[in-house]
Amino acid sequence: MLDSAGLNNQWWRGAVVYQIYPRSFCDTNDDGIGDLPGVIARLPYVASLDVDAIWLCPVFTSPQRDFGYDVADHHAIDPIFGTLEDFDRLITQAHRLGLRVLIDQVWAHTSDRHAWFQASRRSREGDRADWYVWADPAEDGTPPNNWLSVFGGSAWSWEPRRRQYYLHHFLSHQPTLNLRHEPVVQQLLDTARFWLDRGVDGFRLDALDFFLHDAQLRRNPPAPHNGTVPVKLFSLQHHLHDMLHPDALPLLERLRSLSDSYGGACLLGEVSSQPGAFERVQTYAAGTNRLHMAYTLRPLREGLDWHRLRNLLAEVSAMQDGWACWSFSNHDVERVATRWAAEGRHDPNFARLLLALLLSLRGSVIMYQGEELGLPEAELAEHELRDPFGITYWPEFRGRDGSRTPMPWHSEAVHAGFTGAEPWLPVPQAHAALAVDAQAGDPESVLSFSRRLLAWRRQEPALRQGDLHLLDLPKPLIGFERIRDHSRVLALFNLSDQPVVGSVADYATVCPLEESGCTATVEGDDVYLPGHGFLFAAVVPAQEWQEEAAVAFA
Ligand code: BGC
Repeated sequence: MLDSAGLNNQWWRGAVVYQIYPRSFCDTNDDGIGDLPGVIARLPYVASLDVDAIWLCPVFTSPQRDFGYDVADHHAIDPIFGTLEDFDRLITQAHRLGLRVLIDQVWAHTSDRHAWFQASRRSREGDRADWYVWADPAEDGTPPNNWLSVFGGSAWSWEPRRRQYYLHHFLSHQPTLNLRHEPVVQQLLDTARFWLDRGVDGFRLDALDFFLHDAQLRRNPPAPHNGTVPVKLFSLQHHLHDMLHPDALPLLERLRSLSDSYGGACLLGEVSSQPGAFERVQTYAAGTNRLHMAYTLRPLREGLDWHRLRNLLAEVSAMQDGWACWSFSNHDVERVATRWAAEGRHDPNFARLLLALLLSLRGSVIMYQGEELGLPEAELAEHELRDPFGITYWPEFRGRDGSRTPMPWHSEAVHAGFTGAEPWLPVPQAHAALAVDAQAGDPESVLSFSRRLLAWRRQEPALRQGDLHLLDLPKPLIGFERIRDHSRVLALFNLSDQPVVGSVADYATVCPLEESGCTATVEGDDVYLPGHGFLFAAVVPAQEWQEEAAVAFA
């Protein structure tokens, strides 16, 4: 199907979306915070990576308590980022460079400084009275129920003027919108229309699982645990009533029919890591009348353990409906090159392995700024923290600042070329050494590898859209075939830092796809995988249809 611009409106299927966290991308007015002109200036770099789209994290007017995820005006750009004219220029430039643009839409909550909340908290009467989730106190004055905020403490805060509590799943500065109130939904759909009219190609929908809750506000039961009290009390509850409510689905359907009327603007949902995440990815993106695709933070939170990865891939290959989107790093979690590394050690080969894995999974992919450079997590001191989540839980949980530090552009420049002023978060020395300019000219760098891999993936339909058949291989190997029509690509990954040798004797032909940058070699019937090595190879099965993988490892 072609959209009005004559472009395929299925572009998102198998696409690579580059996530830009604008605060930390590029600062052009030397206030220490990245801005829209900075994003525009760096778009040619993003396009040169051979990605299909960008996802721009929130740039709307906001007191920045949760760094933009607390929106105070849905139709305006925060002056720290620039102006609406800058935004329009960004869209024009991105499109000129062949990049689609997705922006965040935060429907679960607003900032407490939003005019809607200011009016709603004033009185139980009036147009905005029911725009948020209000409830009377329990008889003893405590909150209406036991629901907890993800960021710590009760999910309820007291408003003396209304003599009522309001619900907030994150900060108390982020009151939950009442999405059961039709005027709120109408308003949010109007907001979506506003940005679609300005030319965006779709939305990343924030915090989907928190859209709706039990209308009777029933208590959550405790979650089973092993007797140890966790750092974050949120995990002590089974989130049966405060989130994950199926009434969110009709809302998504309404947004989808709006986006369809704009030539198929793409809807990408964020699914929480609560149990059942993959089922929800499928449910939210099922059929053709909900979201186009969804991603979950679940695999991001867990370590890279062979068993876990295998189970995950088994789930993916069994997916019947919906379209997954993969994200290994983002602004909410520790950078993957550190999170999954043995003892957190930085190893460029490991970073390459992870990129190869990410970009060969079945689905679309989100790459987070700096992931193409193999950046490790930044280590920050307590006084450098900005994320309220990390400040609350320090030092047991260090928050999200370590993945949000500025993008390093020039290794020799002050603050690695991100800003001429004091940046809002420091640029680690280790990141400056991995800056774009330091890696760009080096054919062996992670950046050069990323470019090669992305360019190769773009023209490999089996990787973009093919089915995934998981292979039954022993530890430390993970392998699968990606198959589309007559194209069959074997992907093998060695998760250990020790070399592994195996046999591919049962294939009729195995032709390594060197353009992908893969590090394994095939000699005769043998395949050699160096430590953290991987193979992409075009294979032809010995028989016409071969269900079992023809790979054997001792
Ligand atoms: C965003 C976070 C934000 C939270 C609350 C998330 O899913 O990605 O950065 O803190 O929603 O809006």
